[in-house]
Amino acid sequence: MARLSPENEAIAREILSRYPRRRSALIPLLHLAQEQDGYLAEDAMEHVAQLVGCTPAQVLGTASFYEMFKLEPVGRYVVNICTDIACMLLGADELLHHAEEQLGVRAGQTTADGAITLEGVTCIAACTEAPCLQVNYRYRYRMTPEAFDQLCDDLRAGRAEDVPPHGTLATVRQRIPADRAAGPADPSSGAEPAWMKGASTGGAA
Ligand code: FES
Repeated sequence: MARLSPENEAIAREILSRYPRRRSALIPLLHLAQEQDGYLAEDAMEHVAQLVGCTPAQVLGTASFYEMFKLEPVGRYVVNICTDIACMLLGADELLHHAEEQLGVRAGQTTADGAITLEGVTCIAACTEAPCLQVNYRYRYRMTPEAFDQLCDDLRAGRAEDVPPHGTLATVRQRIPADRAAGPADPSSGAEPAWMKGASTGGAA
């Protein structure tokens, strides 16, 4: 799958309806594309460009700025081991080395079974719980080599129920009714947004 599926295109159009300018929906639509495929496929980025009204190069320029957007396929689980100062002082380098040995890959690579991509990253803002890691952006604190091995077993066996496949940021999707959406009107036009009209006539709370 690459272009957004019909179901995801419908979600994309609902997201677009929340913004006065279509381009403002670029980041949420990129997350939707990454949720669909696990990474940002070229066709999906082209589709997003069409939907928001810019060029594929502009989409790529935005996506490539953010580390969370992956431009190549990754494993079902992306494990980010923090190697910044607090974690380093409490054994992060040893933990990363252990992870490389256990998984048979170097940081930045994906295991042969496509299950796990390993990354060493800078501070993930949980310094008081060092050494720590994220798996698909879900935190694991005060990690030990044994806890890492258990985590990998749990991931491969589908026992880590709080960790969705890579690309899924939230398991609950925000929905905004059409009459509460900002609508695709240029804010500089001076036209009153749909939701304001509803409020001024008492039609919407
Ligand atoms: S140094 Fe590792 S979370 Fe801050």
